[in-house]
Amino acid sequence: MNPYFIGFVIPFVASLMLTKRKAEKKRGLPVDVGGEPGYAIRNYRSEQPVETHWEGIFTLAELFEQSCKQYAYMPLHGTRKLISRETEVAADGRSFEKLHMGEYEWKTYIEAFKAVCNFSSGLIQIGHQKDERVAIFADTRAEWQIALQACFRQNITVVTIYASLGEGALCHSLNETEVTTVICGRKELKKLIDINGQLDTLKHVVYISEDDVSSEVSLAKQCTNWRVESFEEVERLGLETPIEANLPLPSDTAVIMYTSGSTGMPKGVMMSHRNVLATASAVMTIVPALGKKDVYLAYLPLAHILELAAETIISAVGASIGYGSPLTLTDTSNKIKRGTKGDASALRPTLMTAVPAILDRVRDGVRKNVDAKGGVAKKLFDIAYSRRLAAVNGSWFGAWGLEKLVWDMLVFQKVRAILGGRIRFILSGGAPLSGETQRFINICLGAPIGQGYGLTETCAGGTFSEYNDTSVGRVGAPLSCSFIKV
Ligand SMILES: *[C@@H]1O[C@H](CO)[C@@H](O)[C@H](O)[C@H]1NC(C)=O
Ligand SMILES: *[C@@H]1O[C@H](CO)[C@@H](O)[C@H](O)[C@H]1NC(C)=O
Ligand SMILES: *[C@@H]1O[C@H](CO)[C@@H](O)[C@H](O)[C@H]1NC(C)=O
Ligand SMILES: *[C@@H]1O[C@H](CO)[C@@H](O)[C@H](O)[C@H]1NC(C)=O
Repeated sequence: MNPYFIGFVIPFVASLMLTKRKAEKKRGLPVDVGGEPGYAIRNYRSEQPVETHWEGIFTLAELFEQSCKQYAYMPLHGTRKLISRETEVAADGRSFEKLHMGEYEWKTYIEAFKAVCNFSSGLIQIGHQKDERVAIFADTRAEWQIALQACFRQNITVVTIYASLGEGALCHSLNETEVTTVICGRKELKKLIDINGQLDTLKHVVYISEDDVSSEVSLAKQCTNWRVESFEEVERLGLETPIEANLPLPSDTAVIMYTSGSTGMPKGVMMSHRNVLATASAVMTIVPALGKKDVYLAYLPLAHILELAAETIISAVGASIGYGSPLTLTDTSNKIKRGTKGDASALRPTLMTAVPAILDRVRDGVRKNVDAKGGVAKKLFDIAYSRRLAAVNGSWFGAWGLEKLVWDMLVFQKVRAILGGRIRFILSGGAPLSGETQRFINICLGAPIGQGYGLTETCAGGTFSEYNDTSVGRVGAPLSCSFIKV
C-alpha cells in the first residue's frame, strides 16, 4: 500500500472522530453509497458529487479555451530569464552552481492559447498520431503547461513521469503506455539517450530549449530510432499549417500519471477530463475569492496531481502563474547567487502549494535565523510568537487586534518578506503536515494553511480543511467531488 495513504489514514480517522464530538461543526455527513460495508460520508454542502463549477464546461480543453478568451490580455505564465550562471567554491573545496535570475517576464492568456494551438497542430505535423500517447518528462515550467493543453486540444492522452525516476521505471512507463512522442528538458533528454536502445515505441523527441542543451541535442540526433525536434520548431510548423482541434469528451483519458511506485514498478493512474475537472471544481469552493488578482508560485513537480490540479484552477480563474523551482525559491536558496532575488521575492505570490518537507524547511530556516541573531531580536520573536500562539489556540487573552498589528510590524513582517510578503493562502498536501509546523507557518506568515488528503488514484480531491479552520492535525471533511468510506 502507498505510504502516503497510510500516513494519511491516521490523521484522517482522527479528524472524523473530532468532527463527531463537536456536533455543531459537522462538515462530513453520513451517506449511503452501497457496496462493501463501511462508514461513508460526504461534504455538508453537496448531496451529489459536483461535476463542474463552470457552466457548460466539461473538459479541461474547454475550460482552458474559455478562460483564455475571458482573460485574454491578463498575464498567465511568468518565467525568469537566466542572467548568469556562476560557480562558487566553498571553503572545503566543493563547488556550487549559483544562478542570477532576472525579473519575471509574462505571457498573456491569449499568447499562451496561440502557443497551445500552434504546438497542438505542430505535433500532428511531425507525424504524431491522435490515438498515440505523448509523455511529458520535464521540470515544472510554462512549456509543460503549453504541451499539456496542446495535447488536450487533439484528444491526445498525456503520460506524466517523475523527473526523478530511475531508468528501469522510466523504460517501463514509456513502454507500457506505448508512448511515441516525449517532450523533455535537458536533464531528461540525457536520460533518454542513455536508454534509447530499450525504447521500442518512441519515434519523436521534442526538447525544450534550455540554455546549454546543444551537446545533448547533437547526441540525441545520432540515435537513429527517433527524430529530434525543438519545442519552437514544433510551434513553428503548427503556425504555418494549422490543424483543426479534435476536442475530447469528458470521459476521455486526459492524463496517465505514473506514481512514485513505492512497491515495485510505478503504476499508471488513468484520469479522465471529468476527474480532474471535478477536483478543480470542488477546490473552487475552498479558497475564497480566487481570481484575477491572485499570483501563484509554481515550483512543485507538475507530474504530481497536487500541482497539476492547482495550476488548472489558477488558469481557470484569470490568475497568474509564476514558475520557479525548489532550489531557487527564496533569496537564501542553494542555487541563488548571494545578493540576488529568489523566486518568491521576485514574484511576490498570493498563493502557494507546498509539501510538508518544504514547510518544515521554511520553519527550520526561520528558527535558525532567529537563534543566530539572539539577544533582543530573539526575545521579541519568542514573546510575539507565544502571544499569537495563545490567540490562535483560541484564548481571548492572546494577541488580537492592535497587539497583533504591533507584533506583525515588529516581528512577522520580516518573516513574511521571505515569501514575498503577500501570501494569503498555502495549500499543503502530499503527506501529513506536523501540527507544530502548521502553527508556526500560520502564525509567522499570518496566512491560513489548508491541508488536503488524497491519492493520485482519487485525483487528489479527497478531503480538504476549511479556509478558516485554525486547528491542526486534521485534513478536513470530504471535498464536494467525493464520497469517502472508511
Ligand atoms: C479520444 O481518444 C480516445 C483514445 O484514442 C478515443 O477512444 C475517443 O473516442 C476519442 N474521443 C473523441 C471525442 O474523438
Ligand atoms: C515492452 O512491452 C512489451 C509488451 O507490451 C514487452 O513484450 C517488452 O518486453 C517490453 N519491453 C521493455 C523494455 O520493457
Ligand atoms: C493550546 O490548546 C491545547 C488544547 O486546546 C493545549 O493542550 C495547549 O497547551 C495549548 N497551547 C498553548 C501554547 O496555549
Ligand atoms: C468558517 O466560515 C464558515 C462560513 O463562512 C462559518 O459557518 C464557520 O462557522 C466558520 N468557522 C470558524 C471556525 O470560524
